[in-house]
Amino acid sequence: MALLSTIEPAACNKIKTLMFSKNQVVTFYDSIASIYDLIIKDKWDIIGGNNDKYWLIKYLEKHEISTILDCGCGTGVDAVSLSKAGYSCVGCDISKQMLRRANDNANKYDAKNNCAFVNCDITKLSRHFRTAQFDAVTCMGNVLMHLSGGDQIIKALSEMNFVLKPGGRCFIALDDNYDWVENLLGTKRVIFHIEAFCPSGQFMIPIHIWPVESEVVRSQVIFIYIGKDREWTITKFYLPLRLIFLKQLLSMMKKAGFTDLKASYVKNGQLNHDITKYWITSTGIRKQTQILIEGKK
Ligand SMILES: C[S@@+](CC[C@H](N)C(=O)[O-])C[C@H]1O[C@@H](n2cnc3c(N)ncnc32)[C@H](O)[C@@H]1O
Repeated sequence: MALLSTIEPAACNKIKTLMFSKNQVVTFYDSIASIYDLIIKDKWDIIGGNNDKYWLIKYLEKHEISTILDCGCGTGVDAVSLSKAGYSCVGCDISKQMLRRANDNANKYDAKNNCAFVNCDITKLSRHFRTAQFDAVTCMGNVLMHLSGGDQIIKALSEMNFVLKPGGRCFIALDDNYDWVENLLGTKRVIFHIEAFCPSGQFMIPIHIWPVESEVVRSQVIFIYIGKDREWTITKFYLPLRLIFLKQLLSMMKKAGFTDLKASYVKNGQLNHDITKYWITSTGIRKQTQILIEGKK
């Protein structure tokens, strides 16, 4: 597979524009909505089993929060979990198919009374929600990296700020350690990442291939799905992603109006506030650790 750096600059710019079109993000998530819950099965296992074990729930208890907007909620794993924990939660997402699954999951986990889902773009929240409508905003599991650039990310963060009550909190999680990825630039340009999931006779192997060009990652995701009848399906996607480094995100949150910024990391289901240890302990790019950035309106 050709790296972006081997392509002519003009063609490269064209690819970057194509990569970050919102339609492409919608197509990608609409296409994988039916298998997405297999990919985050570990998270659903915690929520379906013992919701109290989820670090986010434990952490939010320390704040005075009752209403939450979950931005880029996907199939609703956090919205459902938060609703089950007693919060009144609205999940919003740009993909209608992901939201269809989110509604099914809210019914399945008996959380429907406390949650609702809205189809919208997180850069346009003010078209759908009032100012000061929520006590908290969450944005979990790599949502912002689907936006086309710094301006769009600041726009989304400003919209999150708009819907928050004064003093409200915004919690952004980054699933991948992009600072660690950046350290590999110059030595390794392509990063492979393989995971396997095998729920009850089915098998799912997502393989991520990341050729890195500056801050642009053209991630190829190959899903190999082995059904109960052991028949194989292989699906390939190019997933637009933009690296977001911790320092950048802190600075963008400041520009969007947040104060009291704090970065923590999650490892083995525990939230740790000494972020300096994060770089030492982090050896993988997914699932190993997550960063949580928190800001106050
Ligand atoms: C990696 S998934 C994370 C889903 C969920 N938060 C989780 O942790 O499982 C990213 C989600 O962000 C959504 N998304 C991407 N760009 C968006 C945008 N501009 N507005 C709203 N949702 C968006 C996608 O449709 C997708 O459901």
